[in-house]
Parts: sequence; structure tokens; C-alpha cells
Amino acid sequence: MAISKVKGTYDVLPQESFMWHALEEKIRDLSRLYNMREIRTPIVEYSEVFHRQSELSDMVTKETYDFYDRGDRRLTLRPEGTAGIMRSYVENKLYASQELEKVYYIGPNFRYERPQKGRYRQFYQYGVEAIGTLDPALDAELIILAYDFIKRLGLKGVRVRINSLGDDQSRSDYHDALIRHFLPHQETLCEDCRQRLDKNPLRILDCKVDQKHSALKDAPTPQDYLSDDARAYFMDVLDHLNAAKISYEIAPKLVRGLDYYSHTVFEIEADIEGFGAQNVLGGGGRYQKLIKELGGPDLGGIGFAFGMERLLLAIEAENVDFAKDVELDAFIITFNPSYKTLATKILYDLRQKNIKVDQNYTQKSFKAQLKQALRYQAKYLIIIGDEEYKRGVVGLKNTKTEVQEEVVVSKICKHLAEKLEK
Ligand code: HAM
Repeated sequence: MAISKVKGTYDVLPQESFMWHALEEKIRDLSRLYNMREIRTPIVEYSEVFHRQSELSDMVTKETYDFYDRGDRRLTLRPEGTAGIMRSYVENKLYASQELEKVYYIGPNFRYERPQKGRYRQFYQYGVEAIGTLDPALDAELIILAYDFIKRLGLKGVRVRINSLGDDQSRSDYHDALIRHFLPHQETLCEDCRQRLDKNPLRILDCKVDQKHSALKDAPTPQDYLSDDARAYFMDVLDHLNAAKISYEIAPKLVRGLDYYSHTVFEIEADIEGFGAQNVLGGGGRYQKLIKELGGPDLGGIGFAFGMERLLLAIEAENVDFAKDVELDAFIITFNPSYKTLATKILYDLRQKNIKVDQNYTQKSFKAQLKQALRYQAKYLIIIGDEEYKRGVVGLKNTKTEVQEEVVVSKICKHLAEKLEK
């Protein structure tokens, strides 16, 4: 029996990969525009990069792929990009320049989640991190970048939702308020939530089991407990967004599913009919403790990540004219296998002029070769028939106008190059 792919993974097939390329190109173009450089960190890290004492999210406690390697090292496949990048920032002392470090990344992540449309066990993220300073203008810059990106992809049914979790004081006050709120409901909460009440009541808010529990609906929000400083910071972020005329909504209940956040958090949600339950295209926020926790200086950063599969699903759902598959300039059709040496020579010469060409290798009928050429959307056919071969010429046919002409073999490259230029 043939072996199948691992549950929750997928193949990007040759006829689909152009969409990925187009998405990646858009990301790289945008990154240049915003002065971001790429960082590439390993997919595998020592487990303690992700399994930190303060991180009790489901993602880290229930969904990581952890294993021992042959040298008995405890390793984890990254479930997200941020922690590994902070490990690298610290290890490579990128903070030494005292400059803000703005980076982006594209790559796979692994979470042992229940697979469904838009949710996989191996999925790609495009993410951004701006590390080294606490400045409301920077929070706004990243939200603007995420917004601009979505706009440039051509997606329309998208909402930017923003909230603030505040500073240490706000978070600690909110933490206590949540305990006071949930304590009387302790008996009716799920077993996990009873434990969360002790260790990290914030995580009760995104519990999948207790989602419909009435106590979750009327729970206090972080907005109710923002300190004056934290509120002023948040207002400052909003001022910047207003200045740039970015549309957003304040989402008082938004807390995000990871524990490293403080101050600004945000999500980009698809509002597309029939899109499905996994409608959060991307999200992020500020982290002020993570770098120190990983052994670095007391510096903060802010970042976000988009799920690339979800972006492509949204592009498909909105029917955005986004990218085209390979289009050949010409395709060579031969009537006899013995003409193939000539075809090989022509192919090589044309490619030296950066003309995109191919020929058939499976000895099909003329009709089948023609079909193949049209599938690649070849602009021209170069036909080497019996007559042509004998006379040292080829037929050159424009697939759109269907006009065919005869060209001497030695002139075909120059002739075709000129035609394509027109
Ligand atoms: P996150 O919200 O866990 O944040 O993931 C970001 C995005 O990755 C989600 O909005 C979603 O589009 C996509 N995603 C997550 N899990 C899956 C999955 N199982 N299948 C498909 N797509 C998925 C982070 O990862 C943070 N590191 C973002 C960040 C960067 N915060 C600060 N800097």
C-alpha cells in the first residue's frame, strides 16, 4: 500500500506552487518597502526556548512536537517564530548595536492541533518582529504594515481588531479581577480551567471547552484594568493609526492565545462569507519580558504573524486575481523522435536569450503535444515537421492569432526574440 502524508500536513502540488511564490514575492517586496530584513532561524530548537515557566498557553502545554534526539537532547519543533527569533537575537547579541532590529520571516511551524480547513499540524507563517524599544509609534507601524499587506493582497473582507493588555500593573490587577470573577464558578468550569484559575486565569478566556460558559461571557476585560500610563500608551498608538487613516476596531475582549503579550495586541480577521471557523488570518502584539526570560537584556519588542494557508484561502474565497501560473514563450513540437537533437539545440539557444521554452518528451501525437503547449499557455509553437526538417526550416505559429510562418533554423532565435519584444 502506498504511504500517505502525515495527518494535518499537505502537499503543495506543482500546479499550486505559483500561488505560494506570488505570496512570498509580495511579502519580500513589502518588507523592502518597510526596511525589514529577513531572519532565518532553525525549525528545531532546544525545548526550553518554548517551554518557559511563564508560557502556559495550550499551544505550548498541549500542542508542541517534543522529542529527544539521538544525543538525548530535548528538542521541540517550533510552534511559532517569535521565541526562536528572540533566542537568536540574544545569542547573536543583535542588541549590541542599540538599534531597533526589524526582521521578517517565512517558514513552517508545527502544532499538534485537530486538523480542519485552515488549521494544519504543519503550517507556514509570514511574521515580523521589531525588537529593542517600547514606542507607540512602533506598535502603530506594525499594525499599519499588517493592514497595508492585506490591502496589497487585494483582500477586502478583513477587519483589524486591537486591544491593550496594559503594563505589569494593569496585568496584575486584571489577573486578580479574573480570579475574583471566576472563583464562584469554579465548580462548573472544566478541569483544565480549574487549574488555570490557579496558575493563569487569562487562559480561561480562550478555553475551547468552556467557550459557551456564561461566566466567560460577562468576564471583565483588560480595558477595565488599564493603568493610567498603559491607557495613555494605548491612546498614543491609536493616534498614530488615526493619523495614517487606518481602519480598525477596538476589541475589548481580545487577549490572544499566548502568554508573552503585554500592551498592544491585535488580530486581522477575515469577514468573508463561507470562509469557515478559522477566520483569524494573523495576529500579534507586544512582548516586554520574553527577551529577558531567554537570557537577554531587558528590552521589549512587537510583532505579528499571518498564517499563509489562511491568506491563500482568503484570496481564493474572494476570487482575487492574484497570480498566474507559468506561461511559456514557446513550445517545440516535433513530428519524429529523430528531430529532437535539433529541438534540444534550439531550446538551449532560446534559453540563452532568456526565452521560456520547453518541448515534449513523451512522444505524443501532434494533437497531444499541442494540448500540452496550450496548457503551458505558450505564446508560440515551434513546429518541426517532416517537410520543415528536410528543408532546414521550422514553422512558427502564434497561438493567439493562429498565423503561421516559416523561419530558417539559424534565424529562429533572433526572430522569436524580436517578436516577443513587440
Ligand atoms: P498565533 O496567533 O499563534 O501567533 O499565530 C499566528 C497565525 O498563524 C494565526 O492567526 C493563524 O493564521 C496561523 N496559524 C496558527 N496556528 C495554525 C494552524 N494550526 N494551522 C494554520 N494556521 C495557523 C503567533 O504565532 C505569534 N508568534 C505571532 C507574533 C509574532 N506575536 C508577536 N510576534
